[in-house]
Amino acid sequence: MSQLSVKHLLGIKHINKDDIDLIFKTADHFKEVINRPIKKVPSLRDITIANLFFENSTRTRLSFELAEKRLSADVVNFSASQSSVTKGETLIDTANNILSMKVDIIVMRHPHVGACDFLSQHVNAKIVNAGDGTHEHPTQALLDSFSIREKLGSVAGKKIVIVGDILHSRVALSNIYALKLQGAEIKVCGPKTLIPKYIESLGVSVEFDIKKALEWCDVANVLRVQNERMEINYFPSTREYSQLFGINKQLLDSLGKKILIMHPGPINRGVELTSDVADADQSIILNQVENGVAIRMAVIYLLAQQVERS
Ligand code: CP
Repeated sequence: MSQLSVKHLLGIKHINKDDIDLIFKTADHFKEVINRPIKKVPSLRDITIANLFFENSTRTRLSFELAEKRLSADVVNFSASQSSVTKGETLIDTANNILSMKVDIIVMRHPHVGACDFLSQHVNAKIVNAGDGTHEHPTQALLDSFSIREKLGSVAGKKIVIVGDILHSRVALSNIYALKLQGAEIKVCGPKTLIPKYIESLGVSVEFDIKKALEWCDVANVLRVQNERMEINYFPSTREYSQLFGINKQLLDSLGKKILIMHPGPINRGVELTSDVADADQSIILNQVENGVAIRMAVIYLLAQQVERS
């Protein structure tokens, strides 16, 4: 297979195992490219991409921009806080105005679930979801699986625990879809209030004891507590959360085996991970960030193959 089965990357829910294999094979090539002295290829010199960020981002935004520039695409960046959205312009009007400037691909982060699906139905451009509310963050899940494959050889059969605020996490849902497609076993672990009731229907089991979860797994993907999405208190205090679900060096060393530690960032140091765990040899957090560029190059490159060139 040399083409994606989808026209847009809206979520892992819409893609299949062959798509993931194709993205990884393409990312393997681009990872080699970005480690060369000249880190750029001319592949997308005729493609223009707009990065629309309606929500804050460090990693995803920089990673997409770098990926697009490494492919030689023309890139424009849009930040909602500095735009006419603050004057009341709608999402479709904003996107159509940007498209009038002959944009081929839109990468969008938005606080509302479904915003990328909505846009894909109303504008004539390829859409890449860079995180829509609490729904999906597909390129994060792809780079997470790519990083596990790189360190452990494959994702199939591996035991992965996703720890923390599952309820508000688009990273958790996209990871669950991606890991299931690749044949991993998945548990989630966190406070009962932050585990959605439907989670087991996704083929995932629940463990409330962090030590048991870590003893079981090969990889712990630890998520941030998303205070900005919480309108009520889901646990009594940050101190209690870190005592019950935080990972410190003593806990890690007590396991009698070396598991991989992952985190999509940004980290609340001292809450979900202590600094000595975040910076430990077995932490692959910065490998995830590095792989994000190769994965995003692959996704953009593959979608651009479907753009009609005039
Ligand atoms: N992992 C992630 O999405 O980080 P940012 O919010 O900084 O993009």
